[in-house]
Amino acid sequence: MLTPDEMIERIYATRRLTGRSGKEHELHSALDREKGDFLRSIVANDSEIVTTLEVGCAYGLSSLFICSELAKRDGASHTIIDPFQNTDWDGAGLLNLDNAGVKFYTFVEERSEFALPEILKKGEGRFDLVFVDGFHTFDQTLLDCYYATRLLRIGGVLAIDDVALLPVGRATRYFAEYPCYETLGVVTESRSKPAKAIISKTMKAIAGRDRWAKVISASLSKKLLDHPRVEMIALKKIADDNREWNWYTDNF
Ligand SMILES: C[S@@+](CC[C@H](N)C(=O)[O-])C[C@H]1O[C@@H](n2cnc3c(N)ncnc32)[C@H](O)[C@@H]1O
Repeated sequence: MLTPDEMIERIYATRRLTGRSGKEHELHSALDREKGDFLRSIVANDSEIVTTLEVGCAYGLSSLFICSELAKRDGASHTIIDPFQNTDWDGAGLLNLDNAGVKFYTFVEERSEFALPEILKKGEGRFDLVFVDGFHTFDQTLLDCYYATRLLRIGGVLAIDDVALLPVGRATRYFAEYPCYETLGVVTESRSKPAKAIISKTMKAIAGRDRWAKVISASLSKKLLDHPRVEMIALKKIADDNREWNWYTDNF
């Protein structure tokens, strides 16, 4: 039997997975290694993390990264919500966990909008880490993060993937403004060479011959070129969510 770490290595090396049907699948829509390492480091750096939840398992990479550290802890439990695990993903995510000897997971085969309120009914503040990587619309991300905030204990961590996508980023920035959260860390992706070339070319074209346009375009271009895209973020819940009924921010 492989360990979760060995399973992770095998998946990245072969980029192929076997589903419950016995069919082979090519790896896609999966967490990359840098994000996975970041997720694993959140667990590794906080020995109080034992009860975790994730929305969106797919081929199980995020689950494996989280569980590789959890496996070393007494009383570990990992809850996985994914309505399409046995259909779109041919059960491969859970099969990977089974084949890596992970026995402490609970699988909820429901959409998060139905599963999360049921889990919340069992009690608030019961989770140490919630990872959101499900359906990436603005409203669904808001909904997942809303329940995650209620489910996390003080000191718990909310991690969100794909924040470079506009709807996910917008929703995430709203939560990042909550007084109960502070940013624990991010995974960024610097702009690729082709993107840099397009920005430079566009800015030069905008600058034309006008002196001020040139100055403005040069400074804007530097900002755009230097600004790394945030791909994943981890927010730490540092207090109870005590916002007043009329709390709002425009800053997202
Ligand atoms: C980007 S993939 C997740 C990738 C995965 N975390 C990994 O490490 O590779 C998105 C996942 O969200 C699931 N999903 C889609 N709609 C959902 C919903 N309403 N509730 C929960 N999960 C959902 C999909 O089935 C898919 O597994």
